[in-house]
Amino acid sequence: MKKYAIILAAGKGTRMRTELPKCAYPILKKPMIEYIIENLERSMIDEIIVVVGHKKEVIQEILGDRVKYAIQTEQLGTGHAVLAAKELLQGKEGITFILPGDMPLMEYPLMDKIMRAHGEMGNDLTVVSMHMDYPKAYGRIVRDEYGEVTSIVEENDCSEAQKLIKEVNSSVYVANNKVLFDYVSQIKKNARKGEYYLTDIVGLMHQERKVNTFMVRNPMVTMGVNDLYGVSVAERYLRDFINKGHMLNGVSIVNPDTVTIGHNVIIEEGVWIYPNTTLLGQTTIKRGAKVGPNSEVVNSLIRENAEIKHSIVYDSEVGENTTVGPFAHLRSHAVIGANNRIGNFVEIKKSTTGDNTKAAHLSYIGDAVVGKNVNFGCGSITVNYDGVNKHITNIGDDVFIGCNVNLIAPIKISDNVFIAAGSTVTNDVPKGALAIARNKQINKEDYAKHFIKPKE
Ligand code: UD1
Ligand code: CA
Repeated sequence: MKKYAIILAAGKGTRMRTELPKCAYPILKKPMIEYIIENLERSMIDEIIVVVGHKKEVIQEILGDRVKYAIQTEQLGTGHAVLAAKELLQGKEGITFILPGDMPLMEYPLMDKIMRAHGEMGNDLTVVSMHMDYPKAYGRIVRDEYGEVTSIVEENDCSEAQKLIKEVNSSVYVANNKVLFDYVSQIKKNARKGEYYLTDIVGLMHQERKVNTFMVRNPMVTMGVNDLYGVSVAERYLRDFINKGHMLNGVSIVNPDTVTIGHNVIIEEGVWIYPNTTLLGQTTIKRGAKVGPNSEVVNSLIRENAEIKHSIVYDSEVGENTTVGPFAHLRSHAVIGANNRIGNFVEIKKSTTGDNTKAAHLSYIGDAVVGKNVNFGCGSITVNYDGVNKHITNIGDDVFIGCNVNLIAPIKISDNVFIAAGSTVTNDVPKGALAIARNKQINKEDYAKHFIKPKE
């Protein structure tokens, strides 16, 4: 049986008060809707349809052609949003999984479980519900004296008695696709809000079709994010959930409340993560590495036993046993070899280094190809930019670069070269040479008195 998913992501998200449409708003730096799509892609769903409308380009930019789109031109409510998918799905055999685009925390095994339960119960409609101690902002599940669900009532339409109901609608549904649109088409405008509520489908279906609920035990995973406080609640939950997973896998995390690890980060056993550290994007930390405190690693590979302290690593690789920091910055494909030492106030951009290379203090290395056993003295830099273009610096193996050296690119420094401190090197240096490129020192005897008065 074919399984379709409809994600409702056309709404404005007025309560967010943000420029970004709600479903594009990031949770741990990743758009909310991407969590949903990633999980659906791993679930048993065959086809994903995202209903877009308000600022649809933003959502479409994020999801590209991973999904199909249905356009809801006017935001007339969740029922109206489902109707936007009618053209794509009406009449097809199968089941349809409906999810709100503001519920980022449900993982795919639960999605599959809900869909299986729908089939096993032989339902035409399954409403996923949960228990909330403070159910405000959620629709209440109303049942008759036999315990059958008869309707869903939104907070503002609730009687005082209904307000006390703590079983609420998650806005996740599974429906028999053949009949879904017949009923959605019958939904009438809510008089008070002027919107078509998808929740009304329960009242329409329960007498003619089999309607049941599936209760989710952990209400956090079906939490709807409606405002920026909700964003922080979802982030706190997700942070703890992800950190716990890593800790159970043998990763030591010190003061985990201050450590933020993205959904896609891979961390091997025996890694240590210290406080105030953020690991995001497609990042992998290999066995024995230590990251933090106060570090940010994004889209990067940190190899075995490397150490990153008080540093920033973006789109880069750090080799085995290499130490980075304190206060270093690697970015734009800095690929650092094994046993390097990248120390205080060193920035490395779009460069590679061989093994055993060191830049221990105050260097800028940009657009450079650096060999092994190279020593960058304190303050030595590559001068890669002439104001218009960037140029390459090539450095061989076993090179010693003295303090405060400028290597004016394009330039090639061959193997076994020694560059004297303070040199501004503009020409290539051949293998084995000593390069000195600075003015000769002149000592004028007894001349300092013209500048400083000797003390009495
Ligand atoms: C909805 C449910 C409520 C449930 C809650 C769970 C309705 C009427 N209410 O309320 O019972 O407890 O979710 O989180 O369904 N959307 C559109 N087009 C629209 C309106 C909304 O695509 O015209 C999308 C939004 O982008 C959002 C989702 O539908 O992703 C839910 O809309 P939202 O306004 O957040 O509904 P709630 O008030 O939270
Ligand atoms: Ca919501």
